[in-house]
Amino acid sequence: MAALSRFSPCKINLLLNILGRRSDGFHELETVFFPIPCGDDLHLETTDHPGIEVTCNHPGLPVDSSNLVYRAAAAFLNRVQCASFVGVRIHLEKCLPLAAGLGGGSSNAAQVLLGLNELMEHPLDLQALHALAATLGSDVNFFLQDQPAIATGRGEKIVSVPCPPVLHRGLLVLYHPGFGVSTPWAFKQLPRFPSLLNGRPGRATEMVAAFQDATPESLAPHFFNSLEGPVFEKYPILELCTQFWLQQGAWAARMSGSGSTCFALFRDPETGLRARSAFERTFGTTGWLQFVPLSR
Ligand code: C5P
Repeated sequence: MAALSRFSPCKINLLLNILGRRSDGFHELETVFFPIPCGDDLHLETTDHPGIEVTCNHPGLPVDSSNLVYRAAAAFLNRVQCASFVGVRIHLEKCLPLAAGLGGGSSNAAQVLLGLNELMEHPLDLQALHALAATLGSDVNFFLQDQPAIATGRGEKIVSVPCPPVLHRGLLVLYHPGFGVSTPWAFKQLPRFPSLLNGRPGRATEMVAAFQDATPESLAPHFFNSLEGPVFEKYPILELCTQFWLQQGAWAARMSGSGSTCFALFRDPETGLRARSAFERTFGTTGWLQFVPLSR
């Protein structure tokens, strides 16, 4: 039986602009996803007895059929109609925090689809994988590719875009405060923020147009996240955290997705790393703090 390992990266949203509630209960949105080389590891193997077995190093993550990794494997096996004669064993080594706004679970699901497709010698083409991904969650499609991308619809319609040089250099800081935010909860709060529920369309294309010849100064005003309204209201520490990084010289600082992770971008690694001890004095050392050098 065959086996392989796959790295499961995360993402941040440089922009997340919500455009209104849809009749299916989801929200129409436009977002600019940016892939981050920081994530989890997955080990996949096929077995000759039917069934899906998932193990995980993280005790807080259920490994039953509610787990996205399990659901992705089940969806794949059903789609290729070999659920009755092939089984899979998957180990997830979780390094990213949960309910973090980093797309960790979505990325795991996408890597399971890509990994099983490779192990079974590519029964599905990319279009079929995208169709399966969309049934698993709104962010899963993005992780079937590895470029920055504009996503529309409920987040599942992906158009890859080139990475702007300004995001090839410097340092990215990720901070998760130790508590998660429920994505459905964040979206449900939006009727109290009518201008955030019904954003002005076109901001994602404007941001990507500004990628060309961008400097930190020219790109910074395009960063935006509609969900900061409700999430910062409930968890003011997150807004304080983004303000802190800006005061320390970051050229952009925002919440990612529905939070709770916030990110900051520094022009040069030294400035970002110098801010670390001041940050830990102010916010403590119990959160998850990552410094990710950006390079091509
Ligand atoms: O698609 P996903 O499972 O990631 O979505 C989680 C929840 O976030 C949905 O059940 C929904 O409450 C909310 N959501 C939304 N509109 C979107 C994406 C997510 O309302 N475009």
